[in-house]
Amino acid sequence: MSFQRNPETALLLVGAERLELPIVASNGRYQGIDVSKVREATGHVLVDPGAGNVSICAPSEITYLDGQEGILQYRGYRIEELANHSTFLETAYLLIYGELPTHAELQRFETAIAAAPGLPALATDSFLRSFGAAGHPMAVLQSAIAWLETQRPVLRQAESLEMEPVFFDLLRNVPALVASWYAFRTRGEWVEFDPTDGYAKGLLQAFFPDASHPQIFADVLETCLVVHADHEQNCSTNTCRSIGSAQASLYASVAGAVGALSGPLHGGANEAVVAMLEDLLASGMTVADKLAEVKSGEARLSGVGHRVYKNSDPRAERLKQLCPEVLRAAGNDSQLLDIAHQLENAVREDEYFRRRKLYPNVDFYSGILYKAMGIPVEFFTPMFAIGRLPGWIAHWVEGREKKTRIYRPFQIYDGQSERPYVPIDART
Ligand code: CMC
Repeated sequence: MSFQRNPETALLLVGAERLELPIVASNGRYQGIDVSKVREATGHVLVDPGAGNVSICAPSEITYLDGQEGILQYRGYRIEELANHSTFLETAYLLIYGELPTHAELQRFETAIAAAPGLPALATDSFLRSFGAAGHPMAVLQSAIAWLETQRPVLRQAESLEMEPVFFDLLRNVPALVASWYAFRTRGEWVEFDPTDGYAKGLLQAFFPDASHPQIFADVLETCLVVHADHEQNCSTNTCRSIGSAQASLYASVAGAVGALSGPLHGGANEAVVAMLEDLLASGMTVADKLAEVKSGEARLSGVGHRVYKNSDPRAERLKQLCPEVLRAAGNDSQLLDIAHQLENAVREDEYFRRRKLYPNVDFYSGILYKAMGIPVEFFTPMFAIGRLPGWIAHWVEGREKKTRIYRPFQIYDGQSERPYVPIDART
């Protein structure tokens, strides 16, 4: 791995050891310090639990995020502009190939996705039958992506430039698998996904084939997918890159990423937010009580706080703006939105949250939108996964292209010192 270096250096003093560390040039807020020789030169490793100060991959060209200023850009384009003007597949093309597509390029991309082989009929039926009806969609999706690879023995072998059929396979069939699990649970059937009239529209149709939805649902869902499409080195993308660094397949890497995304501190937060807001309404607990509970350390506020954003999350701002119109179109009352606003206002005024720079993140309002569209709560995080798929693909490809070294961090050991083995009969 080679970095672009600045002429300046940083200095590390460890006892009598003096080590000059090259500065890694960056096009963003933070410059890097190349510490790749520290262990060898000083006999020390760097300790940073949660890796909040460490850039573990080579500099990336995909997404720029400035958490102080609330800026998010994909390949140099502001998320607000992409959310307002680009479709999800345009955005996916941008992330994967590096440029916004022309009409012809976009058409070729869309056609290739729509024409990718669908789910294998007999195998899909027996695969879905093998899960318990209560299986969480994220667990099913994670398994399903690994299973999909077993159905594509030729694609599995594909390398870098021949990877396009795998991108198309995932972009067509991840939504199909999510919607199929819903259809299987509710109607005992599985469904195909047809993005020809729009990705989000096709997704709603796959979920609810008999319903006619207002156009605004498809438009807003498309925006939701765009704002989720990438977020540089978040936990699931880092997982995807980490698995990919072992030269595992894109299917294996994306399946692992889905597992990471399911956690309530990551994508699972969108489900947890709605549960929290509904619980607040049902229990009659006041917002002040809720904040007091959180501040006593008993719980966290779901959908609040972010490792990188320290002022506002531009994705949350955009989704918040969309809520009233979607609720109106759905004919829903605004109880959930009202309590979310109250909670946000209280968080913004409260010293505990202000001091820690904790504000609503993307998951705070997305669940309210999904719920208004009729998407069941357990399928909120799969919607995030569908949106994040192009980001995972782009990062996996970048890892390959930049010939990433296998991810293998060091650890500090503070367990037992060596001791004599005790045979089982002698143990007390
Ligand atoms: N509610 C209450 N306190 C919080 C929260 C929260 N949601 N988030 C952080 N804190 C406190 C935390 O207790 C700590 O306080 P102290 O300094 O007194 O120990 C301080 O703020 C710093 O927290 P941290 O855990 O060191 O922060 P982190 O950067 O490691 O974690 C986070 C980031 C997103 C996991 C965390 O803010 C969190 O758990 N939020 C709730 C879950 C959530 O909404 N996740 C979605 C993230 S955005 C979309 C995505 O990536 O999926």
